[in-house]
Amino acid sequence: MNVRTETAFDSATRVVAADDGTNYDNVAVALHWATALLVVTQFALAETWDWFAKPTQNSMQGLHMSFGVVLTLVIVARLVWRLMPGHQVSSLEIGWVRVAAKSVHYLLYGLLVVAVALGFAVQWSRGHPVNLFGLGIPGPFGPFARPVRGLLKELHNYVAWAIIIIAAGHAAAALYHHYVLKDRVLKRMLPGYGEHGR
Ligand code: HEM
Ligand code: HEM
Repeated sequence: MNVRTETAFDSATRVVAADDGTNYDNVAVALHWATALLVVTQFALAETWDWFAKPTQNSMQGLHMSFGVVLTLVIVARLVWRLMPGHQVSSLEIGWVRVAAKSVHYLLYGLLVVAVALGFAVQWSRGHPVNLFGLGIPGPFGPFARPVRGLLKELHNYVAWAIIIIAAGHAAAALYHHYVLKDRVLKRMLPGYGEHGR
């Protein structure tokens, strides 16, 4: 543990890293890293598919939707796991740091839910099924007018960027804790650590 007194900057990075003082079990850890990997893959696919010829572009978009469905299941699993009795560990933080750290959790979860919901809406608004590795998931609504489709895609894009920017700050803060403050913030989100205490 670090022996120096925590500065306001240290607290701020704790907040951005979403540290609210709980210990993460291995299921939570696995779901966190699956989420991170899938979100980055989703973004990388979407930002690069324009560089490729149409057939490759179509497969990349198919993959984006398939991984998107998997990501949706991972997020639902994480939220259910987190809400289940016995999975809430009381926070070590107090006061505004605790409130702010929780806010970062909720903001990330909120944006993730909105991003995946908009992803489905973008595809269904075109009157097309969502592709799950070749299987089509039909939408509950028919095609929408072109401006509505455009708006949904634009919103999906903005929310995706917001997640990436916040997650980058969040990751940087976690690395600051690990390498500079040398505390347990990152370690307890790594496999095998969470259930064994501090
Ligand atoms: C797109 C990528 C990412 C997303 C969407 C994401 C999202 C989240 C969320 C929602 C939580 C709260 C977990 C909960 O309490 O249920 C969290 C915690 C955490 N994340 Fe991430 N994360 C991402 C990437 C990363 C990366 C790259 C790192 C490390 C370099 C990281 C390190 C952590 C740590 C250490 C915690 C626990 C903080 C604490 O001690 O409370 N995350 N993350
Ligand atoms: C957090 C997860 C996700 C991220 C970061 C993400 C990111 C993106 C980005 C940046 C674009 C480009 C938007 C534009 O060009 O204006 C895009 C397009 C799209 N996304 Fe996602 N997305 C995610 C989840 C999903 C999900 C769950 C689905 C559906 C199951 C989905 C379906 C689509 C579709 C259909 C498009 C439009 C493709 C096209 O131009 O034909 N996305 N996504």
